[in-house]
Amino acid sequence: MPKIKWKAGTLTAPLPPALVSCRADGRDNLITVAWTGILSSDPPKTYISLRPTRLSYDMIKETGVFVINLPSSHIIRSIDFCGVRSGRDVDKFAECRLTAEEATEIDCPTVAESPVSLECRVTEIVPLGSHDMFVADIVAVDVDDRYVDEAGKLHIERCSLAAYAHGSYFALGKKIGSFGYSVKKKRR
Ligand SMILES: Cc1cc2nc3c(=O)[nH]c(=O)nc-3n(C[C@H](O)[C@H](O)[C@H](O)COP(=O)(O)O)c2cc1C
Repeated sequence: MPKIKWKAGTLTAPLPPALVSCRADGRDNLITVAWTGILSSDPPKTYISLRPTRLSYDMIKETGVFVINLPSSHIIRSIDFCGVRSGRDVDKFAECRLTAEEATEIDCPTVAESPVSLECRVTEIVPLGSHDMFVADIVAVDVDDRYVDEAGKLHIERCSLAAYAHGSYFALGKKIGSFGYSVKKKRR
């Protein structure tokens, strides 16, 4: 089947509508960020791309730290809200009734209602066009112990994660495989 050719654009999906928390001058803020991902496993490196007009851009540039809180479907309304209102006008933690918990390695809040939080320290800011990419080391990962079993295994399928695709939010559905399963020998 031939595909229709569209002009170049950002149609990659699904993406995490991550809830990024930051703090500057004693003030906590939240921003929803879909332009995020992993750059390297060892050392663990991530990025967020921000428009310079965002309040969070100035805050993170000033402090050099932020936290990526993975999106849970339970708080998807708050995630959307944090993506359409600026911390210049509203205290988003208070308005969304989200709980700020202290990060362990950096001076920054994490979001208690998120199942997994990645504490990040910025190493460089790369200007790219509409957005600047904040490249960062992941310096700690905070995991809600409700999703970790006695053996220390994280059951991510129980975290009710949400995805963002082409302007809409989706709840992640059923597990359909796992890493390397296609080449695994079947047990007799
Ligand atoms: C689903 C979604 C994804 C978003 N992704 C980004 C992003 O990757 N980078 C960005 O700069 N803004 C992004 N935004 C917009 C910001 O979250 C929004 O402008 C926010 O109000 C900025 O808040 P602040 O001024 O308090 O920093 C996104 C918004 C939504 C709803």
